[in-house]
Amino acid sequence: MIAQETSAGEPAVAAVIVLAAGQGTRMRSATPKVLHTLGGRSLLGHVLAAAAPLGAGATVVVVGSGRSAVEEHLRAIAPAALPVVQEEQRGSGHAAAVALAAVPELEGSVLIVNGDAPLLRAATVSALVDAHVAAGSMLTVLTAEVDEPTGLGRIVRDDSGAVRAIVEERDATPEQRRIREINAGVYVGDAAALRRTLAQLDADNDQGEQYVTDVLALLVAEGAPVGGVPAADPDDVLGCNDQRELAARRRLLNDRVLDDLMRAGVTVVDPRTTWVDVTAEVGPDAVLQPGTQLLGATAIASGAVVGPDTTLLDTEVGERASVVRSHCQLAVIGPEATVGPFSYLRPGTRLSRGAKVGAFVEAKNVEVGENSKVPHLTYVGDATIGRGANIGAATVFVNYDGVAKHHTTVGDHVRIGSDTMLVAPVTVGDGAYTAAGSVITSDVPPGAMAVARAPQRNVAGWVRRRRAGSPAAEAAEAAQRRAEASGGDRSEVSGADTEQ
Ligand code: UD1
Ligand code: CA
Repeated sequence: MIAQETSAGEPAVAAVIVLAAGQGTRMRSATPKVLHTLGGRSLLGHVLAAAAPLGAGATVVVVGSGRSAVEEHLRAIAPAALPVVQEEQRGSGHAAAVALAAVPELEGSVLIVNGDAPLLRAATVSALVDAHVAAGSMLTVLTAEVDEPTGLGRIVRDDSGAVRAIVEERDATPEQRRIREINAGVYVGDAAALRRTLAQLDADNDQGEQYVTDVLALLVAEGAPVGGVPAADPDDVLGCNDQRELAARRRLLNDRVLDDLMRAGVTVVDPRTTWVDVTAEVGPDAVLQPGTQLLGATAIASGAVVGPDTTLLDTEVGERASVVRSHCQLAVIGPEATVGPFSYLRPGTRLSRGAKVGAFVEAKNVEVGENSKVPHLTYVGDATIGRGANIGAATVFVNYDGVAKHHTTVGDHVRIGSDTMLVAPVTVGDGAYTAAGSVITSDVPPGAMAVARAPQRNVAGWVRRRRAGSPAAEAAEAAQRRAEASGGDRSEVSGADTEQ
């Protein structure tokens, strides 16, 4: 798909320049435009990903508005890229000139791309570069035929079909405005030709800015060969200027991701409510139920069932596992394990094959061994649980003493009784039991039954004396009369305790 090397083995493009200094005023957001996200990446991240397969020697990103945030983001996602500051936003042409000035030695072809083109695909960029190289042009612009060209630069061609100029809508004649071939904001050009023509730009237009688009007409005037190449899929070139466009681009990108998954054998029950980041992976015969979100580096193995109403962030789900109505982050769910409904798996949760985490369980930094179960209403944090163990309902792994976190170890085939408090650091040995309601503060040897709760005391006759006339007292009296009539145990009066 991508053949970006010349015969000499050099990348076909020496540098990639991303124009990302603009304010993005129409987003009406404190976040710089190129940092808004869709499909698990920023706008800037998508553009860089589309250009990455070119293997260019240098990547220059022009920053300006919100520059410290953009620079920080760039360090995180593309540490090799060079941020270059455009102090004043004097237009896209000025931005391109500032970028080229930062790499004065650079020669050969340069890709210039707007920072707000998140649907651009590597194959589209690659086709543009190939066409540019094949035609031996000085500048080639990516174009698209669109039904709704409003607001975009128009591609002006002469009678022979040769590209003559790019005219911004606000500077266009009524006749030019009828042109439906638009400028995508992606260009490949010769570095020397760009340097020469960018230096000649004026700001003699409606916005008073230096337009990168004007280099095309300057090259035409020099008699240099230029071209315009339509994108195979016009969706690729859609920009993103306000929140409504961002939502529309996000939807379209998601549709693309889901289409690819479905073509590869994934069942997506409701594509409208299923959101999968471009960075997530899903194996064949996995089923995504309605309301599923697979975010970040999430990976779903084949045959797993996820959802409904489940959010997985950077989470691995093994073959034939199931995750129902749950929220998981940085968790590893083993093959055939089951999670949910209503489970919350936090970072460091690792479920081995066949393990179960059930309803209203929160887990963090815990290994749950093969076929072990944490079925209901439990908090389990900072723990190792062996294989075949069962953690009773409402158990709490008491991991925090207010200062430090401590570890709990539960052995193989342990039975933790309901409502046990396991006060860490503590170890429950293999095959041990704890009695329901116990507060376990010391280690339990293998095979022992730990009972750590107050003995029960029944205060006989308390209800009749202290709640006389209440429905409870009447029920108790009726029960006693029945017991006396049948000659049975007079349990209420036989208790040892009396009220103080
Ligand atoms: C631009 C093109 C238009 C094209 C459209 C495609 C120009 C003059 N027009 O219009 O022909 O149809 O993209 O989406 O380029 N920027 C800077 N510094 C500046 C000004 C802009 O870095 O001083 C960056 C912006 O961050 C943006 C890009 O340049 O990524 C284009 O600027 P923008 O204002 O978005 O231009 P459009 O009006 O969208
Ligand atoms: Ca734009």
